[in-house]
Amino acid sequence: QWGLNTQWIGKSIIHKTSTPSTQIIAHQAAQNDALHGTVVIADEQTSGRGRMSRQWHSTKQKGIWLSLVLRPNISPYLAPQLTLLTATVLADVIYSVTKIRPQIKWPNDILMHSKKTAGILTEMQAEQDQIQYVVIGMGINVNQAKNDFPDIIQTKATSLKIETNQTWDIVKLIQEILVTFEQSYDTYIKNGFPHIKNKWESYGFKIGKTIWVKTLQEEFKAIFSGIAEDGALLIKTMQGETKQLYSGEINWFQK
Ligand code: BTN
Repeated sequence: QWGLNTQWIGKSIIHKTSTPSTQIIAHQAAQNDALHGTVVIADEQTSGRGRMSRQWHSTKQKGIWLSLVLRPNISPYLAPQLTLLTATVLADVIYSVTKIRPQIKWPNDILMHSKKTAGILTEMQAEQDQIQYVVIGMGINVNQAKNDFPDIIQTKATSLKIETNQTWDIVKLIQEILVTFEQSYDTYIKNGFPHIKNKWESYGFKIGKTIWVKTLQEEFKAIFSGIAEDGALLIKTMQGETKQLYSGEINWFQK
């Protein structure tokens, strides 16, 4: 069914018609020695998880709900690079199939015309400074119509179909994503992060622009200057100071 022409990714594929979350299945698989590159795919998720304990709407057969088990031989502190790598993979695939240039909103939302098309959720199991495994969850809105999204997110969410007026073949897109992921990951392991950083920044939403930063401690205006080697957000404050932000909600300043 999946017809994958890859070296290591998707050698084992777990496919569920319906499941609460592919993340849960992927964690279980990983704890039972699942291979590096194991893929979990669902047609539907009944309680899809987003970042910061948010919900992820995963309507049946309308999108790609996929989790990937990786066993990278890198320091846990570098794991955020994998999320940024994944974002560039999704952006590349969306760009190559739709010809619409997406943007990546830090850390990992994929936007088309400023609305969210895809999100990434990375979860890691590490012990004593060693990664046991990483689960990278990707949710891509593909064939939803506007009213497939709940009212509250309709103004913020979009799908490939809404942006292109075209229905997309989900299996083909999955193949494209996995093949591209494998290439990009292999290059990353061989050559390190610089090419991912460059690519990420070329898609980066609001790079060079003023943003409104809201962390747990404070709120302030700053210029978004790029991403750091370890995946942190690099900003320049109005006082000219360069800072790295690791987490917190970033609200994008609108004039
Ligand atoms: C976000 O933008 O908040 C991240 C969304 C991640 C959604 C995907 S869908 C496949 C995988 N399973 C989940 O429950 N979540 C991720």
